[in-house]
Amino acid sequence: MADVNRRGSTIRDGGPWVEPPRPGSSGLCHYGPVTEQQTTSSPRPRVSARIAAIAESATLAVDGKAKALKAAGRPVIGFGAGEPDFPTPGYIVDAAVAAAKDAANHRYTPAAGLPAMREAVAAKTLRDSGYAIDPASVLVTNGGKQAVYQAFATVVDAGDEVLLPAPYWTTYPEAVRLAGGVPVEVFAGVEQGFKVTVEQLEAARTARTKVLVFCSPSNPTGAVYTPEETAAIGRWALEHGVWVITDEIYEHLTYDHAVFTPIVRVVPELADTSIVLNGVAKTYAMTGWRVGWMIGPADVIKAATNLQSHLTSNVSNVSQRAAIAALTGDLSAVEEMRSAFDRRRRTMVDMLAAIDGIQIPTPEGAFYAYASVQGLLGRTFRGVTPTTSAELAALILDEVEVAVVPGEAFGPSGYVRLSYALGDDDLVEGVSRIQALLAEGR
Ligand SMILES: Cc1ncc(COP(=O)(O)O)c(C=O)c1O
Repeated sequence: MADVNRRGSTIRDGGPWVEPPRPGSSGLCHYGPVTEQQTTSSPRPRVSARIAAIAESATLAVDGKAKALKAAGRPVIGFGAGEPDFPTPGYIVDAAVAAAKDAANHRYTPAAGLPAMREAVAAKTLRDSGYAIDPASVLVTNGGKQAVYQAFATVVDAGDEVLLPAPYWTTYPEAVRLAGGVPVEVFAGVEQGFKVTVEQLEAARTARTKVLVFCSPSNPTGAVYTPEETAAIGRWALEHGVWVITDEIYEHLTYDHAVFTPIVRVVPELADTSIVLNGVAKTYAMTGWRVGWMIGPADVIKAATNLQSHLTSNVSNVSQRAAIAALTGDLSAVEEMRSAFDRRRRTMVDMLAAIDGIQIPTPEGAFYAYASVQGLLGRTFRGVTPTTSAELAALILDEVEVAVVPGEAFGPSGYVRLSYALGDDDLVEGVSRIQALLAEGR
């Protein structure tokens, strides 16, 4: 539906953002309680069209609802959160404690990050991804999320199309739209293991295509592209001048025979037209520390640093010092957490696969199981007949107090995402409750 703003230009649902009219020339603002006049007859919307169009993060909403019910004393089990249940490893916390006591860390740092942090990212990229980068090509951000936002803001112009393999992480389309871009979903279902093909990408490519988002291991599906699939997609992007924004935040969480393949390692020429996004949150159980980074060509990193210098300046020094300890340490704590996730993954998938009406390819990465629930829609449970995955997720929360995230948060309806980054006992209890409820379907 088109919404015509006061200058007569149009803002289309899902279309490029059109700049709203600029404030009047008086330049005066009056802060204070909202008046009758402001609410009823103000000639201008109170919230900008750009920001009003942002939907709440569905994953955080589900997690928040589960936490609120838990706080109210309900025995809720939450599969919504995308965060490890482990505490941050002790040696990392120790580095932060020492940093907090050092007055050198009580000041601003360069916006792009502490030199030692940028060097640690370069060294870690060589160790984990197998290619060398200049520390100057690293921008340290407040979590991977700021890197995601800034990557799109830096390379996407109004009307540029961004190919978004779906199911996708819920933040991508919002960040694309905030940048004025147009997200173009390319859907891959269960039968293709939730992985898009070059043919699908080529079919979606137009003269306006600027960027491809690549996320492997994937949130929400846990899919991991093989080295061959990654190389084929990278070569296609290179051939057509499509930028690649590659989100590698789950790089260390792969299982069975799956391996993480850095797209820039297999197609090195992409270095000039790609941005790597990463962070310490998932690998080191550091979601609360808010440290991420982006790696890209010099001009892009310079521009993104200019943006960040006005937005948030630098990342907290104490958190950067903790992240340096994480990146320069060994990966033994990471391996311990990975093997716990692996065990839980197998338990969860076996239990979900046993439910009549659920289809679930075995996830090979990250810590999410993504199940098709299409076979359950239309059945009746305790007098309720869900017809969408959102309705099914609401039923599961209401009836058995288990929180799962509906597929609507990540693209088409008909799926649910469950995180297996929670304790083994809770996991078994939560999926058992789901099994019992869904067995009642008629
Ligand atoms: C695919 C993906 N990228 C980036 C992030 C951002 O992580 P953070 O901002 O916590 O570093 C997340 C978090 O859920 C994610 O799942």
